[in-house]
Amino acid sequence: MVKLRVNGQERSFDGDPSMPLLWYLRDELGLTGTKFGCGEALCGACTVHVDGQAVRSCITAMGDTDGRVVTTIEGLDPNGNHPMQRAWRAANVPQCGYCQSGQIMQAAALLAEKSNPSDEDIDSAMAGNICRCGTYQRIRNAIKAAAKGA
Ligand code: FES
Ligand code: FES
Repeated sequence: MVKLRVNGQERSFDGDPSMPLLWYLRDELGLTGTKFGCGEALCGACTVHVDGQAVRSCITAMGDTDGRVVTTIEGLDPNGNHPMQRAWRAANVPQCGYCQSGQIMQAAALLAEKSNPSDEDIDSAMAGNICRCGTYQRIRNAIKAAAKGA
């Protein structure tokens, strides 16, 4: 039996331990803000936090989540007002939106680790999050604005 905490709630899972965390979040908990893109850790659409670290939920097995704290885009802030979400709105970042929850979760983990990230820090942290709509410059602007507390 796997016991984990998801967005502040205790959960238990006794299914196939090889099942990806992404399936569990979307199909069993109905947390559909986290998206499926590639399924191979190549796009970042499925990014969530596990114990505060940005991870790709598509390749994270449920068996590896025992005792962990998982946060999805739905749990980042109860009112959707995490500093990164506020900066995202102010910079009007999204286009189609598909990649965006993964982008925000990756950026929020960066900000938690480095309160004033350099351009290199941002490029390095965000390199694995692909946006087919090409919102990269606005993403960078939003991360800088959030770091400044804007
Ligand atoms: S769906 Fe997980 S990285 Fe693409
Ligand atoms: S906003 Fe469309 S893929 Fe990123």
